[in-house]
Amino acid sequence: MSSRQTEALDRLWPVYGLRVPDRPGTPVDLAGLFGRRAPLVLEIGSGMGDTTAAMAAADPDRDYLAVEVHTPGIANLLDLVERHGLRNVRVAEGDALDLVAGLPAGSLDAVHVFFPDPWPKSRHHKRRIIQPAHVALLRSRLATGGTLHCATDWAEYAEAMRRTLDADPGLVDAYDGFAPRPAHRPVTKFERRALRAGRPIFDLIHRRS
Ligand SMILES: C[S@@+](CC[C@H](N)C(=O)[O-])C[C@H]1O[C@@H](n2cnc3c(N)ncnc32)[C@H](O)[C@@H]1O
Repeated sequence: MSSRQTEALDRLWPVYGLRVPDRPGTPVDLAGLFGRRAPLVLEIGSGMGDTTAAMAAADPDRDYLAVEVHTPGIANLLDLVERHGLRNVRVAEGDALDLVAGLPAGSLDAVHVFFPDPWPKSRHHKRRIIQPAHVALLRSRLATGGTLHCATDWAEYAEAMRRTLDADPGLVDAYDGFAPRPAHRPVTKFERRALRAGRPIFDLIHRRS
């Protein structure tokens, strides 16, 4: 980590950080965490946090909970939160699915899964975040009408995501297939790298029915 990130982590973690409880499903006190009740967006695998910070800055009436396992990314997001004076971001460290298990049913306005690890080898597909049981869990935490927005540059994963999301009995595809690139999703390093390598980007937006 850079010295800036180390310093940000030490100073800002106690203010904005949440450690995912060791026991999956331990209830999370969202109103206590944010100090208010507002529609909540969950950002799964926030990476370096650029997307979370930019979207939260443009959307102050909703709260953003980022969850990430990579400590330098968490530190970078904490730094961005302070630099941009964001009051609507909290950062959880740990496994996203363990965190989600502890959220109340219907508590999420949106879930973002942007450029999740593609695990390209067939024998590793079971590690993918988008698979039927995980989607059912995420959907159960979405409010009616809430959205599950996934983006990937990995064509085969995109097709697998689409099949999985379409097969979920409680989700409806908002676009009847891949969505046009939404202007509100900022371009990150992963997207730039993919575009340079000639890989198209696939967005999928499903709504809880
Ligand atoms: C390819 S990166 C994409 C980062 C970011 N969403 C972006 O678009 O720039 C995927 C991220 O997901 C995180 N991740 C993978 N599995 C996770 C899990 N189970 N819980 C939380 N984060 C996870 C990784 O640490 C990594 O930072």
